[in-house]
Amino acid sequence: MKKWSAALAPAGRIAYVNGRYLPHGQAGVHIEDRALQLGDGIYEVFNILNGRPTDEEPHLDRLERSLRELGMPMPMGRAALKLVIREMIARNRMANSFLYLQVTRGAVKRDHVPPPGGPRPTLIMTVRGQDAAGLAGRLEKGVAVSLQPDIRWGRCDIKTTNLLPNLLAKQAAKKAGAFEAWLVDDDGYVTEGSSTTAWIVDDAGTLITRDLTNAILPGVTRQIMLQAAQEAQMKVAERKFTVAEARSAREAFLSSATGAAVPVVSIDGHKIGDGVPGPLTQRLRALYAAWPPAKKP
Ligand code: PDD
Repeated sequence: MKKWSAALAPAGRIAYVNGRYLPHGQAGVHIEDRALQLGDGIYEVFNILNGRPTDEEPHLDRLERSLRELGMPMPMGRAALKLVIREMIARNRMANSFLYLQVTRGAVKRDHVPPPGGPRPTLIMTVRGQDAAGLAGRLEKGVAVSLQPDIRWGRCDIKTTNLLPNLLAKQAAKKAGAFEAWLVDDDGYVTEGSSTTAWIVDDAGTLITRDLTNAILPGVTRQIMLQAAQEAQMKVAERKFTVAEARSAREAFLSSATGAAVPVVSIDGHKIGDGVPGPLTQRLRALYAAWPPAKKP
């Protein structure tokens, strides 16, 4: 079997594992890692553009929050973490990519209750290339969404690696010919997408996205887009919205680190607006891309 030395590994194939940069084939975690055995871990996804992580600080804020909520320590200080992220971008030779960062509670003999003080956390990072043509197609034509029941737990505000309900919803959506699943709670309100924040635009041109509670992940792209929209005096409302409102919306779209303001043109086969990407969706995407606005002299 051919073994790549780290220096010679193909672009995008270097992983970071607990202090070491290794070709994927040689990278691995301990068999008793608690994320593997128990799902005891959290993660973040960064959009790397021109070699730089987009919205890095708010993603690191959320990482710290997820860890705090689960009583897990930061694997290293923020400055060191930023250095590793930069090193990963450089070593993988991927200026435009997505960087995945997972922190697990670490490896220790399996027990629901970790030992006092806990094991040393596991930190892993991987990088993958972006499908620029795929995203361009989605932005131009819009995507279809399929409604699925939200069967997740009561702390969806924590970005845990436990993604089973999200995976099942997205797989069901794909089977139904849709790109994303919109999760619907027991009261008939949309919570969010399986891996994206859900937005609609009503007849008055108000951008609507669900308010932050334990029912949804506080999307970083959502946060920046809300700031950009407010700065541009667009009307925004943070509140929950029903399936009926979504179906009769003038526009709808998704947001995440993997795509800001991706137009939704149909929900369960029902056409949204004119069935083409809407103007406010496109305006918001442009505002996000230009954020933060240049300082006035
Ligand atoms: N998903 N809601 C859920 C359930 C998510 O998993 C994500 C992100 C978002 C959007 O968050 P942000 O704008 O901070 O990316 C909302 C990432 C991209 C993923 O799991 O791949």
